[in-house]
Amino acid sequence: MAHLVWSADLDTGIAEIDRQHQRIAQYINTLYNLRSSPDRQALSQVIADTADYTESHFAFEESLLEQAGYTFLGPHKKVHELFIRRIVSIQERFAAGEDVADELHKLLSRWLFSHIRTEDHAYAATVKKYLNRVDAAPRQGAPDAETRHIDYEKLFPELEHRMQKKGWLARLFGR
Ligand SMILES: [Fe+2]
Ligand SMILES: [Fe+2]
Repeated sequence: MAHLVWSADLDTGIAEIDRQHQRIAQYINTLYNLRSSPDRQALSQVIADTADYTESHFAFEESLLEQAGYTFLGPHKKVHELFIRRIVSIQERFAAGEDVADELHKLLSRWLFSHIRTEDHAYAATVKKYLNRVDAAPRQGAPDAETRHIDYEKLFPELEHRMQKKGWLARLFGR
């Protein structure tokens, strides 16, 4: 597998989630481009950014599932946690000087799409129902969670505090 190419069947129909998933895919593609670069500093940066963004996405997703009262939040969190642990151990080997870029790229690219297609798709209906419920004043012409702008920062005021990482929320929303 070379570059990840987004396809419509990966969409959950939750605009913010789909945007974040596509952003992770972009990071993975940048990692692919740099995987055999002699510029270790650039490679180190993209590995750190990919891991960081993925972790932020997981925290966002878990908060959303929690708010939506998703039954399988526990197992979903566990899957995220195990995956983060694998990434961290590869990062540690990278820091120790090992050549891990290919292995990391393979792991990320296989894992992401398969996780989205199975575990993430499984929560889509519950979350959409929740978002349609909390946003009591849908704008005209944007009747569902897919197209409507939802102010997640208002919805999850505790999110930034929970992550204890200053600025990560701003980064997640691309500001
Ligand atoms: Fe996800
Ligand atoms: Fe997930």
